[in-house]
Amino acid sequence: MENKDVDFDPFCDPDNPRTIKYESILAASKRMEGYVLRTPCTRANMSEMLGMDVYLKQECMQITGSFKERGVVNTLLLLTEEQKNLGVITASMGNQGQAVSYHATQLGMPSIVVMPVFAPLTKVTKCTGYGAKTILHGNGMPDAKHHAMLIRSENGMLYINGYDHPNIIEGQGTVALEILEQVPDVDAILVPVGGGSLVAGVCVAVKHLKPDTEVYGIETDKTCSMTESLRRGERTKIEIDYSLADGLAVNLVGVNTFHNIKDKVNKMVAVKEDWVARAIMHIVEEERFVVEGAGAVPIAAIMAGLFPNLKGKKVVCVLTGGNVDTTTLARCLERGMAAEGRLVKFKVTVSDRPGGMAELCSLLSRVGVTLRDCIPERAWIHGDVFSVEMKVIAETKGSAHAKELVAQIKKNYKNCFFPDFDTDQKKASCRGATRKGPCLAPNPTCMRKR
Ligand SMILES: Cc1ncc(COP(=O)(O)O)c(C=O)c1O
Repeated sequence: MENKDVDFDPFCDPDNPRTIKYESILAASKRMEGYVLRTPCTRANMSEMLGMDVYLKQECMQITGSFKERGVVNTLLLLTEEQKNLGVITASMGNQGQAVSYHATQLGMPSIVVMPVFAPLTKVTKCTGYGAKTILHGNGMPDAKHHAMLIRSENGMLYINGYDHPNIIEGQGTVALEILEQVPDVDAILVPVGGGSLVAGVCVAVKHLKPDTEVYGIETDKTCSMTESLRRGERTKIEIDYSLADGLAVNLVGVNTFHNIKDKVNKMVAVKEDWVARAIMHIVEEERFVVEGAGAVPIAAIMAGLFPNLKGKKVVCVLTGGNVDTTTLARCLERGMAAEGRLVKFKVTVSDRPGGMAELCSLLSRVGVTLRDCIPERAWIHGDVFSVEMKVIAETKGSAHAKELVAQIKKNYKNCFFPDFDTDQKKASCRGATRKGPCLAPNPTCMRKR
């Protein structure tokens, strides 16, 4: 179904990859003044817990909630009058679309954004609100992009590849100029990677100005197209299913981004998705920032223990975006709490005679946990008909407190089952139970509560 003419983008030509120059990034930063925020880069409260001096570059504070504005503004400001009149079209999971929609409207240009049908609701709504014509099409970015290319072939709009257009990469590189001014003695910069525009821009700027500073690209294990491409030495397509870091879900990295980072990035690191929800929770709790999955991957990777080499070093993590649906955020917080033993699920069989449930409640109160949820089950249990199985969700202060709860329940009740603690299911009293709980990867010391 691929039509070479329709899908060909002269700015992202595999036979003619563009080399991004530091001077163009510098020029972009001057051009963009007054259009894009110079975001704060402050020391993280989590630094001690993480065992390194972590600084957070808060790109989630941009007007449309992500760093994508940088590349977009740079590209729009460079258009000819004729292109400005025709307008621009882009395909996006959301952040690129919002940036195009907002800034094209500000600059008086028409814009169209094509998003996959499952793009997060908050991003779709905002995009439309900023003024672009928003079209939902296809099950993923390749479909959305093809559709956008078809439209541009009919109406003459400029297609902006959100991660590979050279002016986009130059605009993203301006983040690095600010970081080097804000934290001049930075040892390493951790950058989320999707199609690669941000990491490419950062690599070009940093390796020009301060080559000893290390640049690490971070993906999740479900979106690791750059890791795979660098491993094989060529752009490599991967299958991507659902990812919490939807902004990183690019199955084939850019022509120009791959060309510009391959000899510059120090290393690509892929963090397991389970850590992303936990990172979001910690960023909300400790730093009071709302960050989407893609923006949380640098902190997730440190929490997962993937950077032992950076202990005690000065590290900047780019919090690239903050556009997350409220429902997704709520789920992440719950997942994070469950994974750290702060939400504990268990079943316990108690007497169904007067006082049986009250006894359980008073035990929970003595242990000091909060009862979140409690469902009695009378029909599908074995043994004595004057028993009731209680399915309980309790809130604890952390993993030590959770273990105390487990110990007290086990001491006082014969039949109980904790899916996230009773690893030996054969010995568990509740028959038929399966271990479905959250990821309980052991907490590295750095993430244990002080
Ligand atoms: C929040 C966020 N972080 C990171 C990325 C990845 O950026 P790039 O595609 O330039 O690698 C994106 C891409 O949309 C994003 O929206």
